[in-house]
Amino acid sequence: MDYDRYDRVRAVQWQSDHLRLLDQRLLPREERWMDCRTAAEVTQAIRDLVVRGAPAIGIAAAWGVVLAAQQGEPLDAALVMLRAARPTAVNLMWALDRMKKRIAAGADAAMLAGEAQAIQDEDLAANRHMGELGAALIAPGSGVLTHCNTGSLATAGFGTALGVIRAGVASGRIGQVYAGETRPWQQGARLTMYELVRDGISARLIADSAAAHLMKSGAVQWVIVGADRIAANGDTANKIGTYQLAIAARHHGVKFMVVAPSSTVDMATPDGEAIEIELRDATELLSTGGQRTVVEGAEAWNPVFDVTPAELIDAIVTERGVIERPNAAVMQAVFGG
Ligand code: MRU
Repeated sequence: MDYDRYDRVRAVQWQSDHLRLLDQRLLPREERWMDCRTAAEVTQAIRDLVVRGAPAIGIAAAWGVVLAAQQGEPLDAALVMLRAARPTAVNLMWALDRMKKRIAAGADAAMLAGEAQAIQDEDLAANRHMGELGAALIAPGSGVLTHCNTGSLATAGFGTALGVIRAGVASGRIGQVYAGETRPWQQGARLTMYELVRDGISARLIADSAAAHLMKSGAVQWVIVGADRIAANGDTANKIGTYQLAIAARHHGVKFMVVAPSSTVDMATPDGEAIEIELRDATELLSTGGQRTVVEGAEAWNPVFDVTPAELIDAIVTERGVIERPNAAVMQAVFGG
């Protein structure tokens, strides 16, 4: 397919002695770049959601290690600091473990840069491959609903679930795209719609609370989402709201697809119960665009991920292939050892 036509954003850019990040807090209002010159700045950028999305977090962290090496900082401390930036997306830990192995083997800053570049390049290749695999599951002319942002902004490029949508639109398998706004941070409204409009892909935004009604109308045949961590039994952590989409999808006979590179699979975590769910500051719920919208004195609970049990997932698509009706045995067969 014509990748240049459909994938034009690169949110994480290495610039030989610093990392340029497209500040996702400001999109789509403003395209402002932030330059990170230390591992501590990269850690802060991950924590503050300047860069977000499981694969992009891992890639940024790998470059954070390169910055530490270039500046002669203690690498063990940099690894610990970056690892603690966010808890749920395992791509962060996976990328840092790869960097750690290279450090243990005596790699210098240039070699570490080679490893970070490999992590970034492999992610783009995986996404393009998953796009083809996922799109092939969809009947021509289908409607799909996606959640959060899983596109070029969240990855090295092309995207995971959004990659399948790009490939599906290009091949005519997807006729209509719906994107949930993804309260409270609005990754769907602000970021997914930004990417789709830039690509010229016609898409309709829905309120998160419209999803079950949409499914009942018969307008969508698939829900397609990304993942932050897939446990050894196929249970999948993703953006808050994913679980209720999976329940509604099963109720309405809508298929549910998870698209993620193998770097998101965590065979050391037995099931969803063992996945740490990030709790973020209540202000993300109590304010919108920096403006307090809820009465002073109100409290809020703000978990930003949830876990969809494997039995609600029809297909997990990774670059290693498609797993239909995931369970511990098939996950072990594909990812064990
Ligand atoms: O809090 P975020 O924006 O980092 O959460 C992102 C998601 O939940 C995505 O769906 C997931 O990381 C997959 S991105 C390819």
